[in-house]
This record gives sequence, C-alpha cells and structure tokens, in this order.
Amino acid sequence: MTLPKLALTENTEAALAKSRAEVVVIGTVQGPDGLELAEGARAVDAALGGDLVDTLRTLGATGKAEEIVKLPTLGRIPAPVVLAVGLGTPPTTSEQLRRAAGAAARALSGTSRALTTLSARELQAVAEGTVLGAYTFTRYKSEPGDAPVSTVDLVYPEEGTARAHKATLKAAVAIAEAVATARDLVNTPPNDLFPASFAERARELAEDAGLEFEVLDERALKRKGFGGILGVGGGSSRPPRLLRLRYRGTKAAKKVALVGKGITFDTGGISIKPAANMDHMTSDMSGAAGVLASVVLAAKLKYPLEVVAHIPLAENMPSATSYRPGDVLTMYGGKTVEVLNTDAEGRLVLADAIVRAAEEEPDYLIETSTLTGAQLVALGNRTPGIMGSEEFRDRVAAIASATGENGWPMPLPEELRSDLDSKLADLANVTGHRWGGMLAAGVFLREFVPKGLPWAHIDIAGPAFNTGSPWGYTGKGGTGVPVRTIAAVLADIAEAG
Ligand code: BES
Ligand code: MN
Ligand code: ZN
Repeated sequence: MTLPKLALTENTEAALAKSRAEVVVIGTVQGPDGLELAEGARAVDAALGGDLVDTLRTLGATGKAEEIVKLPTLGRIPAPVVLAVGLGTPPTTSEQLRRAAGAAARALSGTSRALTTLSARELQAVAEGTVLGAYTFTRYKSEPGDAPVSTVDLVYPEEGTARAHKATLKAAVAIAEAVATARDLVNTPPNDLFPASFAERARELAEDAGLEFEVLDERALKRKGFGGILGVGGGSSRPPRLLRLRYRGTKAAKKVALVGKGITFDTGGISIKPAANMDHMTSDMSGAAGVLASVVLAAKLKYPLEVVAHIPLAENMPSATSYRPGDVLTMYGGKTVEVLNTDAEGRLVLADAIVRAAEEEPDYLIETSTLTGAQLVALGNRTPGIMGSEEFRDRVAAIASATGENGWPMPLPEELRSDLDSKLADLANVTGHRWGGMLAAGVFLREFVPKGLPWAHIDIAGPAFNTGSPWGYTGKGGTGVPVRTIAAVLADIAEAG
C-alpha cells in the first residue's frame, strides 16, 4: 500500500495562488433549488470569477452524492483543474463528507498533488475518506496502472485551533492507516496468507508498535487443550496458531479483550462449500485482521487502556486429516461440542479464543468475525450485525453508526439455545434449521462468555469484503470494517469507562 501524505493549508485566495496542487477539490450539495457550493468552496469560486454554480449547473451537475465533475481553470489559478464532488442532500453528515472525500481521492489517481477544501467543514472525516479512497492493493499486478494521489493539502476547518487540528489530522491518519493494514491482510491471497505467515506479519507489527506478543503453535495448542482450533485446523497441511498481542497504556483504567476470527481460507471442510464464489472466503480472516490492526492502533494513539487481542488462525480444508461431521471436540475450558457441519468452523475457533480471553478477566470483550452467510441475508453487505450483552451491544451499535460503519443491534433469542442441544455433547455447532442463522451463531458464542462480562459480537460477513464496485472510500476487496468501530469504542471506553 502507498497512502497519500496529508498536510494542512490556509483556505484563502492568496494560498490558492501559491499552491502547487494540480487539482483543487471542492464540494457541492443538492440544495432544494439545485446545486449549491459546500463550505470551503468560496475562495475557489472567487478566484475563478464567481460563476462556479452557474457553470456546474450548465454542465448538468446536481450535487448528488459522489457525483464528480472536472473543470479547467483556464489560467485563473495555478492549478489547471477543479474537481467538484457531490455531498448529496444537506445537512451534510460526517459520513457524507467521508464518502465524498473518498470518491474524490479515487478520481485523483494519477495526480501527484491535490488541495481539498472539503475539510473546511470537518477535518477528521475528510482526512479518513481521502486516505481510504486513495488506497489500492497492487502487490500482485505486473502493471499497477495509475498511482494513487501522492500528496493532499487539506484546508483548515473554519472552527477550532491550529493545534487541535494538527492532533485531529494525526489521529485520522493513524486510524486510516490501521484500516489500510487490515485491508492489506484481507487482500493478500490465501496461498500467501496462512496461519504461520499471518503470525509472522503480526509479530512484525507487534514489534514495531512495542506490543507484547505470544504465538501458540500446534504443539502448544495440543498441550493446552484448544480443541476447537485444532479440530478446524486439522485438515490443512498448514497448521493452526493462536496469537496474543497485548498493549498496556499508562494510566490504563480498563482492560479490553479483542477476539477476531482468523480462518485464512474457508472451503467448508468436509461439509464443502459450492464452487461459485468460494474465492470470497479469502476474506474469512477479516475479524483477525481487524483486531490486529486495532491493537496496534491503540498503541499508536496511546489510549489509556489495556488492550489484549486474541487471534485464532486456521485453514478450513477437506482432507484425510480433517475433522468430520459427527466428531465431538473438547474445547479449551472443557465444554464439548458435537460438530454437525464443518462449515460452521468460525464459532469453534472463536469459542476457544473467547475462553482464553476471558481468563484474564477483562472489563469488556469485543469479538468480530465473518461468521455467517445469514448476516448478509438479514442485513445486506454494508451493515454489520451486532449482538452480545444488551447494554454494551447498544453502546457499540451507536458508536458503529457514528463512525459510518453502520453496525445494527440484533437479539440473541433465548429459544434458539435449545436448538443447539446435542444428543452426545454439551452442545452442537449448528441448529437443525435455517432460521435466524446469524443469531444462532451468537447464541452459540454466548455459551463461552462468562456471565456478567459485557461483550459484543460483530458479524461482518458481508461488510468486511466488497465484491461489488468501488463506492465512497471503499474499493474492491477488503474494506477494513470494523476497525473504525473498534477504534471508536476503545476511545469511548478510555474516556467514559
Ligand atoms: N465464513 C462463513 C460465513 C461467510 C459467508 C462469510 C459468506 C462471508 C460471506 C462461515 O464459516 C460459514 O460457512 N457459515 C455457515 C454456517 C452454517 C453452516 C450454519 C453459513 O453461513 O452458511
Ligand atoms: Mn464456514
Ligand atoms: Zn468461515
């Protein structure tokens, strides 16, 4: 990944006249009587002679979300091009700004320097959207095509001190970099990203961030009794791992455990998946990528918290050594699970990791996973499902909405528990029916969470991976969801307890 460098600049005609930007970005909005200019565009309009609105309307622009119109400046300012990006209908939200900044950044590929005035209204969202919109993953391309924009100057917001703006920019860039780190991991193909190679990448990131790092290999997993991870990982020639990364901030009042599903590829195992779209299962380690990036980010932003990430890694393959439908696994901590479907593997590796995480008595537990196809059926591909203990679930969901990642609270209905009863073991890994599949997975996980521990389970099966066209600040492939939600929850716990 090469991400653009961001810098702050004045928003005046004099600053515009001195700027070395090749493109100046302005915002447009869809007002009641047609296109209007957004905050920050005034100096540009004045420098160009004051007829920007008329010109844009003449060209048919409406200010609708993510509309892109490029205009030549005909020598009136040094930058040869103005790029107008639509924000949609007012009042403009942070997420509208973030998406517009992302759409503009995508349209700026091949440009070396740009100046954006979108940040006049709000810096954080525009900085995040700019970096994330510019993100590309070209490691496996012989000819990568146009490079992303390399430098973007952002105008100072109209309100607040320069000092505060610098701090905001620094945090926004760190958050966007964490999202990009998660995207890189998700986008790395499964022949190169498997449990041991994921563990090595995690070790590098941990060392750079000064985190405590521990990896359990298959022998250690056997010795300690991690039956879920060993069962799922048993069919692969590339053995499973369990990682633990710990950040301990100074003045850490609260301890937060993070758990992320790390299935580096999910064929379904013996209960094998159909061929169509099986390649999407390269994204089945998105939860692991998200919590890895988040604990590194917590250290970078020096949150006054203790954050411990637990990452179970396995490849779910069919082979002579695979676990079978009908097997009974003894999980870490001693509960037994009858496997009725080897494709419901995520909950098995997560159960082990959740029990391990809970041993350390955290104040909160956040677990995230590409857990169920049912999440996509229920909520579509842009809305994570958030389950867990009710109060903390609602807190995480409210924060997820505010970040633009748009998680939505979902219940864990009591009656689903008995559908997981097993004739042989303490519980089965699937119900015998298709109803409420996302919730049933959450009900399964709840069996492994100690009573009274505030916990949230974020199902990101669809939102972690964009199989459609680019939109806003989201390109094809890994999206980095739910890194921004986790970052915002950590910041909230650091502040409010
Ligand atoms: N990794 C999948 C879930 C998934 C589906 C993620 C689509 C992303 C996109 C998970 O391991 C799985 O296979 N779940 C099964 C559970 C079922 C067997 C109860 C599913 O959803 O079909
Ligand atoms: Mn599966
Ligand atoms: Zn899976």
